[in-house]
Amino acid sequence: MCGIIGINSNKPVSANIINSLKKLEYRGYDSAGMATLYNGLINEVKSEGRVENLEKNSLVQNMEGTIGIGHVRWATHGLPNSINAHPHSSQNVSVVHNGIIENSTILKKFLIGKGHKFKSQTDTEVIVHLITENLKTENIVNSIQKTLKSLHGSFALGIIFKDQPDLIVGARRGSPLAVGYGPNENYLGSDSYALKSMTNKITYLNDGEFCIIKKDYVEFFSEEGTKINKKVLELSSTEEKYDKGDYKHFMVKEIEEQPNTIKNGINEYIDMSNKDINIYNFPWRSDEISSITLIGCGTAYHSCLMAKYWFEEITSLDVNIDIASEFRYRKNRFKKDTLYVFVSQSGETADTYAALDLCKQSGVKTCAVVNVVESSIARDSEFVLPIHCGIEIGVASTKAFLGQILILYILALKLALLRKDIEKSNFDKKIDDLKNLPKLVEKTLLIDNKIQSISNTFNEAKGSMFLGRGFSYPIALEGALKLKELSYIHAEGYPAGEMKHGPLALIEEGMPVVVLAPRDNYYKKTISNMQEVIARGAKVLLITNKSKDEVISENIWEKIEVESTNEDLLPFLLTIPLQKLAYYSALKKGYDIDKPRNLAKSVTVE
Ligand code: G6P
Repeated sequence: MCGIIGINSNKPVSANIINSLKKLEYRGYDSAGMATLYNGLINEVKSEGRVENLEKNSLVQNMEGTIGIGHVRWATHGLPNSINAHPHSSQNVSVVHNGIIENSTILKKFLIGKGHKFKSQTDTEVIVHLITENLKTENIVNSIQKTLKSLHGSFALGIIFKDQPDLIVGARRGSPLAVGYGPNENYLGSDSYALKSMTNKITYLNDGEFCIIKKDYVEFFSEEGTKINKKVLELSSTEEKYDKGDYKHFMVKEIEEQPNTIKNGINEYIDMSNKDINIYNFPWRSDEISSITLIGCGTAYHSCLMAKYWFEEITSLDVNIDIASEFRYRKNRFKKDTLYVFVSQSGETADTYAALDLCKQSGVKTCAVVNVVESSIARDSEFVLPIHCGIEIGVASTKAFLGQILILYILALKLALLRKDIEKSNFDKKIDDLKNLPKLVEKTLLIDNKIQSISNTFNEAKGSMFLGRGFSYPIALEGALKLKELSYIHAEGYPAGEMKHGPLALIEEGMPVVVLAPRDNYYKKTISNMQEVIARGAKVLLITNKSKDEVISENIWEKIEVESTNEDLLPFLLTIPLQKLAYYSALKKGYDIDKPRNLAKSVTVE
């Protein structure tokens, strides 16, 4: 992962580098660092941990220089300490890197043989020494091109040179990189968001390309080193402001924003007065699609699984889902009549992007369901369905999940209608139910107090399980993931009916188990599975929906009732208590809720 920034200006750059690094922190927060050129020397400052540590460093506060690079790190090679923090520099060259150099061990051996001395445990340092070595015989462009050729793996790079006071090199293979244009200054950044306070004029580098950024102009080169022209895109110039407001954490704010997430999605795609779904410019006829494959990672993968249940229920399409990191290495049978849907909040997840790339090479239909519409996955898919939930900062995804499943549900309804898989009256009824969903989400959000006390039991337990059947199964997986991510408690999501085939052995006296049993088709079956875990000593938190019928079970430890709606929409409501459970568990443990340990919001390495 990691985030990189570069600024070439005629004014001091350190304050703007720090500001941009703060925006890039969602890509990694193990360490931060920057380097500027001043008086013919490379000055480098690095700190372990957050950008605020770097900012407080007195060396940064007095840092001079009108050209510089900066970095936030998510550690891949080497401990997350200040020695391994980027930039990495030789006397002549300083480099920031996002990605992984897969042949770094061989390159390091070769470079040590040439007399180069290494200071860190990182793979990145080989890039520094390779460029330094190549500069002995080549000019800048040739040395960069030669260096890039020797590297295996993925990278986005920002490079400054001691002897080049007006030049930053940027290069990309795999990891995203953007160039920005300002008045008498130009920029390099992992994304346009990092550059937005400085410019809205952006060029994205494609794989293999590199560039030379001067104060007044930028030159682009192909992998072969020939000069190329590239388009300048003008993005919306209003910078989306997003702060915590009165909330303690972004995560809890994002949970509370979910009624709006749903409202935005509905307003964007649903024509309530004509009871229709507007998906403008959809590039394919419905009879050109006979199956759908949904691909994502983490929470986005759970959205795909949720969508599978809905697509199978509402449409007659064949549905497959895949974890992106698995999809890309399997022998897929690409089919022209399959729609490949890539689900991603950031639109930058490396594995999801690689899966998209594979599909593009095979010439199949590609569609992105993303939050960040300027992202690589959005740009490179044939069709984009934005989820419109606004910036999400909390590393553990919440509102983006509800946003993703809403859009996927709407897509399922639309395809079902076009394919005549659903009666119009039934379709209309489902649209009416959707209209009420924001209100129901709002009401369900009020269940706070009970969850706060329940979370203590989870915090004291060795582990926990989350069970569900049918539509509730993906939500059980998502609930377990949230608890793991935030509270570092072992939590396993499982299909309730599968417990007897192994995981039942884990149940012991007092183990907290969440059972999702809304009043749907699976209700009775799930309640039986619940009894099986209670009989073995589990403390069951039953999450169901309000109903006039009593719950057919005693011996449950706690019960939470969400609002009632049609079966399709219950997953939206069941998600909310699980998000809150994870939040309160982590809050009581005093953990860093918006930036859980070892994680990052956008994962740009495989
Ligand atoms: C990271 C985040 C998760 C997220 C996953 C996929 O692991 O920590 O919260 O679900 O990436 O991210 P994407 O941006 O592709 O949805």
